[in-house]
Amino acid sequence: MNILITGASRGIGFHTAIAFCRQKTDRLILVARNSQKLASLKQECKKINPHVTILTVPFDIENLLSGDVQFLKLINDFTDSIDILINNAGLLESKQFELFSSESAQKIFNVNFFAPAQLIRQLLPLLKKSSNAHVVNISSMGGFQGSVKFPGLSYYSASKAALANLTECLAEEYKETAIKFNCLALGAVQTEMLSEAFPGYHAPIEPDAMADFIAEFASNGQRFFNGKIIPVALSTP
Ligand SMILES: NC(=O)c1ccc[n+]([C@@H]2O[C@H](COP(=O)([O-])OP(=O)(O)OC[C@H]3O[C@@H](n4cnc5c(N)ncnc54)[C@H](OP(=O)(O)O)[C@@H]3O)[C@@H](O)[C@H]2O)c1
Repeated sequence: MNILITGASRGIGFHTAIAFCRQKTDRLILVARNSQKLASLKQECKKINPHVTILTVPFDIENLLSGDVQFLKLINDFTDSIDILINNAGLLESKQFELFSSESAQKIFNVNFFAPAQLIRQLLPLLKKSSNAHVVNISSMGGFQGSVKFPGLSYYSASKAALANLTECLAEEYKETAIKFNCLALGAVQTEMLSEAFPGYHAPIEPDAMADFIAEFASNGQRFFNGKIIPVALSTP
């Protein structure tokens, strides 16, 4: 089983890699910009499961949008199929709507929407080679229709809503293939992203607990769900 996780250097992505290792996953591709953190994650994974084979790829996913081919070459050299892709890397910038520069608004959409979309496009040939492929896009309750909204998160939430919508569209477009597409709209999880955006707030869910859920859902959810945007939050609405 080949699993690719973006945003694996910290937070939810980091713990999701650990969770997969506990599930006895044998092959992981871990992507994020921070190479040191990826290297220490690899060590930790090996302690949990000495048989796991790990490719760490220090890479900025925004580079997928400027025609980078090196990334895909690395992946293709490592594997000829992908079973699970978790688009987890994300960027949150909180600011009053009118104060966003076009550049930072564009960057939020690049990291949260255009790069994951491009990654899916580039990995489609490998996903099609799996008999049970599952693409899990990590969105946010902020991008979930009818949920409580927070001031400052306009571009972040809109980019996550776009990712959620893309999930529904791809499930329809690729329904004749074995690939399933689902989206998890997460509520608050106690990570560095959250504490940077909301200092002093403590989330009801720790990243390792959310990661266990994500790893389990990514492994088995495609048997029951396709094209679904699933709110994973204790809050209502
Ligand atoms: N925490 C929450 O309450 C919460 C709630 C709803 C949704 N989410 C979503 O859950 C996902 C994980 O969130 P988190 O809280 O774990 O965030 P985090 O602690 O900030 O981790 C984000 C990860 O994404 C990576 N990343 C960011 N920009 C990247 C880029 N351009 N290229 C490659 N990797 C990049 C970071 O690694 P590097 O810096 O090493 O690149 C890091 O590993 C995000 O998509 C987030 O929007 C989180």
